[in-house]
Amino acid sequence: MAAVLNHGFILVLLFFCCFSIIPSLQHVSESEPLVRFKNSVKITKGDLNSWRAGTDPCSGKWFGIYCQKGLTVSGIHVTRLGLSGSITVDDLKDLPNLKTIRLDNNLLSGPLPHFFKLRGLKSLMLSNNSFSEEIPDDFFKDMTKLKRLFLDHNKFVGKIPSSLMQLPQLEELHLQENNFTGEIPVEIGNIKSLKTLDLSVNNLEGPVPESITNRKNLAVNVSGNEGLCGELVDLSCDYISLDEGQGRDDGGQTPPTATVSPNSNNATVHAIMVAITLLLMFFIIVGVIRKRNKKKNPDFRMLDKQRLSDNDIVEVRVPESVSTTAKRSTESSRKRGGNADGSGSSKKGVSQVGKGGNGGGGGLSGGMGDIIMVNSDKGSFGLPDLMKAAAEVLGNGSLGSAYKAVMTNGLSVVVKRIRDMNQLAREPFDVEMRRFGKLRHPNILTPLAYHYRREEKLVVSEYMPKSSLLYVLHGDRGIYHSELTWPTRLKIIQGVAHGMKFLHEEFASYDLPHGNLKSSNVLLSETYEPLISDYAFLPLLQPTNASQALFAFKTPEFAQTQQVSHKSDVYCLGIIILEILTGKFPSQYLNNGKGGTDIVQWVQSSVAEQKEEELIDPEIVNNTDSVRQMVELLRVGAACIASNPDERLDMREAVRRIEQVNT
Ligand SMILES: *[C@@H]1O[C@H](CO)[C@@H](O)[C@H](O)[C@H]1NC(C)=O
Ligand SMILES: *[C@@H]1O[C@H](CO)[C@@H](O)[C@H](O)[C@H]1NC(C)=O
Ligand SMILES: *[C@@H]1O[C@H](CO)[C@@H](O)[C@H](O)[C@H]1NC(C)=O
Repeated sequence: MAAVLNHGFILVLLFFCCFSIIPSLQHVSESEPLVRFKNSVKITKGDLNSWRAGTDPCSGKWFGIYCQKGLTVSGIHVTRLGLSGSITVDDLKDLPNLKTIRLDNNLLSGPLPHFFKLRGLKSLMLSNNSFSEEIPDDFFKDMTKLKRLFLDHNKFVGKIPSSLMQLPQLEELHLQENNFTGEIPVEIGNIKSLKTLDLSVNNLEGPVPESITNRKNLAVNVSGNEGLCGELVDLSCDYISLDEGQGRDDGGQTPPTATVSPNSNNATVHAIMVAITLLLMFFIIVGVIRKRNKKKNPDFRMLDKQRLSDNDIVEVRVPESVSTTAKRSTESSRKRGGNADGSGSSKKGVSQVGKGGNGGGGGLSGGMGDIIMVNSDKGSFGLPDLMKAAAEVLGNGSLGSAYKAVMTNGLSVVVKRIRDMNQLAREPFDVEMRRFGKLRHPNILTPLAYHYRREEKLVVSEYMPKSSLLYVLHGDRGIYHSELTWPTRLKIIQGVAHGMKFLHEEFASYDLPHGNLKSSNVLLSETYEPLISDYAFLPLLQPTNASQALFAFKTPEFAQTQQVSHKSDVYCLGIIILEILTGKFPSQYLNNGKGGTDIVQWVQSSVAEQKEEELIDPEIVNNTDSVRQMVELLRVGAACIASNPDERLDMREAVRRIEQVNT
């Protein structure tokens, strides 16, 4: 496992070297390609007047533009604006971080535009347009990042392009309601990552391949294709139809059972059948082997998620051998005051781990003692189980780094390595962790176990499938965005409020019952139930470290009076509410305030002018019944972020008002 992690660190290091600089340079210049793109399309309903040259597309004011960390354009969602004619994709090549394009429900026509020039694209949604013609067979061969492709409800014709079958990460493929013809390629069932396949209402023919029929966890729809046969469509394919399926090229409208040729010789048919089966098996095996070889390094695959698993990823932990040269300069910069984000202390962590002598600082081993279970709801495990687990780097946050480990018993956990948590000795630390382990609330993530070493602590909790609210809101929006409906967002806000109420009762005597509430510490279950993590850490941290690492210390009162209180948690809650309603990344989360949207300032000025509706994420503001609730919640959020704590709601009142909002 140490090796896996080491490998991860190097990749992480490379990743930050390459990517952390790019966004700040791109930032302003990204308006130009977008404006060029706008000028090249015809808009017949509504407008894109908010796209103005020379302004920042990530200011939060550009309609339908989504940004990664508020810095660089990652998504274009321009739907239902009556875009018509054909579009050129070339302008968008100048947006290096573009991952999601949604142009569905417009009037676009012509052949599929050259989206293959955008190699970083993960989601492409073109549903409900009038695109037509055949798609070139190799169209998708360079779009290796593609996860979701929606071409449904168009007028495409011809065969399903075989390059789709080469996409290693494809999860959702929607080709329904077109006029695709020919057979369903067998290889389509071999796309391991595929979860949804909709081929309904086309003109496909021949047998539905077993590679699809036999797949578990694949939602398939092939209905509305008259020429198909097989188990899925309840129509048996006999020998002849398989034979003919390989070579036939008539219209194929008649069901295969009716195409039995009366003068076929049974023996010939049999021989052909056997040959075809052998050939098919050969291709399947070759396909599987090729896919295996292509499988990416899991660490690398995680980088995207990891980049967004915590916002203030500035720390990079590297093995001692790599870091020695960097150490001297890091230490001198710390003496000069370092930067305010805690990366100074993180780098200290680097050298300590190195000195620990565990062969590069990568592994979880190197210390004595075992894992101490504090909550056995998910069973018990020990350090050896964790060491044997397959691990992936999830990311670095203000307190330390996190890994996902899948243990042999199937349990997935997150292991957080927390640096500089040295305020308490082993025994009081144990008391505190056991107290956390006893908490039971549907919106609180209860830790499972911990591991104590003087220089670092490991805290183990259950892994949450949907990652964090931060990731779902601002990450790859394409993947989750359609599920982030208003009822879901309301459920998340209310769940967070309930969890905070519980913490404020449970830890009422603490200066900060949570202290670090932000969207990266709100994890989401499969059903988007929020679970709050990393709470009540203040007593465990040394004061200087706490003030650098915890979000409650970014409040106006700490800046002005060096004081924090329960009201600081209320401020953090307000930021989350507003983050969910606006869909914007708050600049408050960043250490230097550069990038993101200054939610506090924006909300305060809009509320003062009673223009609250302008603030709401365009993605959810389509239901007039709900706008009232959204505005009410915006007001609650605004009342939580008053810069004077005395003018802020208290937690109890904030929760009461949030509970009153019903769907
Ligand atoms: C496409 O249009 C149909 C009918 O208007 C609608 O039901 C469907 O939801 C639309 N699809 C998408 C992806 O918006
Ligand atoms: C689909 O294509 C076939 C032949 O290419 C044509 O005969 C048929 O009318 C088309 N169907 C639709 C619904 O466009
Ligand atoms: C399959 O597609 C057809 C036609 O689009 C639709 O009517 C049907 O509901 C779909 N079935 C499932 C299970 O989604």
